[in-house]
Amino acid sequence: MNTIAAKTPANSDVTYLKSYNKTPSNHTLIKRKAEFDFDADIPRFWQGEVFATRMLDAMQLAFPDGERMFIQSIRNYEDKITDPVLKRQVKEFIYQEAQHGIAHTEFTEMLTEQGLNVNGPVKLMKNMMVTFTDKAPKKVVLAATVAAEHLTASLGEFLVGSEDNMLTKAHPSIKAMYMWHGVEEVEHKAVAFDVYEQVAGGGYFTRALALAAIYPFALIPLTAGTMAMMQVDGELNVKELRKGVSVMFGKNGIFRKTFPAVMSYYKPSFHPWQSGYPANYHDWKAAYEESGDMTQAMIAVDRVACL
Ligand SMILES: [Fe+2]
Ligand SMILES: [Fe+2]
Repeated sequence: MNTIAAKTPANSDVTYLKSYNKTPSNHTLIKRKAEFDFDADIPRFWQGEVFATRMLDAMQLAFPDGERMFIQSIRNYEDKITDPVLKRQVKEFIYQEAQHGIAHTEFTEMLTEQGLNVNGPVKLMKNMMVTFTDKAPKKVVLAATVAAEHLTASLGEFLVGSEDNMLTKAHPSIKAMYMWHGVEEVEHKAVAFDVYEQVAGGGYFTRALALAAIYPFALIPLTAGTMAMMQVDGELNVKELRKGVSVMFGKNGIFRKTFPAVMSYYKPSFHPWQSGYPANYHDWKAAYEESGDMTQAMIAVDRVACL
């Protein structure tokens, strides 16, 4: 196993514990069952702020169908994998992403109960992803998964490894869900990449182009979805939108905080494990192993009392 000193990218407040040039040989992905109760006690603006709540709500609408696309893109190569470790990790990846899909589908049902009509955008995204998965060359679909998994891993590292991670004031049930999802995005961050490089024979140009296409493209439905939800809430106004610009692009905004990690992908020698484990990862994992409860695991690493 090749280890190098952990480096925190400039402008990021994520603390990284260790860095590797390939998937650590003793690394394991854990199968955990999604068990969340998004009950009626959850406030409409569960994050504490209008724009940030709706931005995260809009973002997660794409998760269940996106995760189905990721699974299919890897399944396309499953019978060509000869490395038993990668073969096992692919099965664990599929399990984790399927669980994420279940949790976020339940979350979307809660949004529907709030009177937000999200069926149209969800259907549109589903059709786009299904068409892309069916029509594009398999290697290109896998490259899109590699790029998207890098975005979700960068976000996961931010949620798990930063104390100022947008969830400070969030409702505990939803905070627990995002911490779990973040932890698992970290755990399986290299599976698609390793299949792409080792099995599909994918190269730098296609994977680089995939991120260049996905990153700005994702912003369009994200912004439109956020604003449509705010309109239903009666909160679409200049004051909230100004706050929104800061939430997304300000000094502590999610894009500014994750941008250095996202851009590390463009190094030709990039491997997802070069960013290693984010701080809190091992503590969260140990707390979950002990309690079997995602809220308890979240509380164990939470630096800010949220209960
Ligand atoms: Fe996921
Ligand atoms: Fe993922």
